[in-house]
Amino acid sequence: MATRPDRLSIGIDAIALSVPRGFVDLGELAEAHGVAPSKYLSGLGTRRMAIAAPDEDPVTLGVNAARRLFQRSGASPADIGLCVVGTETAVDHAKPVAAFLHGLLGLPSACRVFEAKHACFGGTAGLLNAVEWIASGSARGRAALVVCTDIARYALGSPGEPTQGAGAVALLIRERPRLMELEVGRTGSYARDVHDFWRPIHHKNALVDGHFSVQCYLDALAGAYREWRRIAEDGEPLARTCYHVPYGKMARKAHRHRRMIDGLSEQAADESFAVEVEPSLSLPAQVGNIYTGSLYLALASLFQAQADALAGLRVGLFSYGSGCCAEFFAGVVLPEAAPLVRHLDIDGPVRDCRRMSVPEYEALRAEDATADRRPAPDAPPPAQRGTEGRAVYLGIDASERRVYANE
Ligand code: HMG
Repeated sequence: MATRPDRLSIGIDAIALSVPRGFVDLGELAEAHGVAPSKYLSGLGTRRMAIAAPDEDPVTLGVNAARRLFQRSGASPADIGLCVVGTETAVDHAKPVAAFLHGLLGLPSACRVFEAKHACFGGTAGLLNAVEWIASGSARGRAALVVCTDIARYALGSPGEPTQGAGAVALLIRERPRLMELEVGRTGSYARDVHDFWRPIHHKNALVDGHFSVQCYLDALAGAYREWRRIAEDGEPLARTCYHVPYGKMARKAHRHRRMIDGLSEQAADESFAVEVEPSLSLPAQVGNIYTGSLYLALASLFQAQADALAGLRVGLFSYGSGCCAEFFAGVVLPEAAPLVRHLDIDGPVRDCRRMSVPEYEALRAEDATADRRPAPDAPPPAQRGTEGRAVYLGIDASERRVYANE
């Protein structure tokens, strides 16, 4: 048992997801593109990608994940003193997605609210900031809401297209958590100025130097992991490790790289994958890359699959954001996790998704290109605040303010 009673007990108390209503099957996409389906299914290790409709955006995905978190965890908006949204799919250069969430969720006015951006690392920046906010004493008994929300879009027909996805993960961070206690102050960081993946402000789609981005990810993993080992290796061995999962094969490459740093042969590193990583990949394979939320979707998958078996065991967490910044850290799964996970019904939103055909997806992408400029109805219903209902984006008003309602 790796819990250290002499240290602060701070970590993830509850977790909830939100995904768009529709997904594309990657076998069907491969056939439509004249590509061997095995390239997407086993070469990239993907199965489906969630696709956001024009009325689903980073705000609605984030609000819907947070509403589910409140409904299922027993927490209330009144408990929150910090709300951070990690996203790289900003809807405005100035007004943060977090401000929309603050309003639509009815969070208290005595609350620190901001958006964190560093490609896929933004959610982890928010999470670690929340942990340190609690450890510093600033929380004064309150909890933090950290929401990771993104839509991964690449140009149609580009190599990145089968690695898209969309979704949000909401995390409740507090003292004496029920799911996972994080090891406060024991993280390995790595940063380097690289142009592996970028999203210029006049582009809706991401641009990427794909093979270079894979190498940057592996270099960052090696740097962050070596630093983490230097400061935190004295604990129990890692029973499982969750990685940032842009596509399943990347987690496989990452695990081999990390375990070979530990001194394992390539064969032994690959043999450890099934036990140490595979249980965390079921939800990422069904949703695709959700950028800031990707690592936490993997963690949600692990909880869903194995919360019972993991009580008291240490789990490694690796977050990578292009550009780049990465962090390796760890936490211990708590005995209360298993019954809570059953109640949270983590994968409920994924089960409710509907398969869309490739022509439907392509039509939706064309519509999505102008969704940010679509006029909202003249007399939209008033936005409903609080923790009930499913939020949708209606369009912009005459002053270009984004308008939301419940469907
Ligand atoms: P590609 O050039 O289309 O694919 O791009 P490939 O030719 O490299 O093939 C991919 C794999 O499929 C290879 O396996 C092939 O052998 C195999 P590997 O050598 O890698 O083990 N393959 C087949 N397997 C079975 N049957 C077949 C077959 N054909 C080939 N018939 C690439 C792939 C990932 C580069 C592309 O999809 C891409 O650019 N994706 C977006 C970038 C990305 O996801 N990068 C990951 C690291 S960076 C990151 O994670 C950050 C990110 O999330 C953004 C952020 O931080 O905000 C992206």
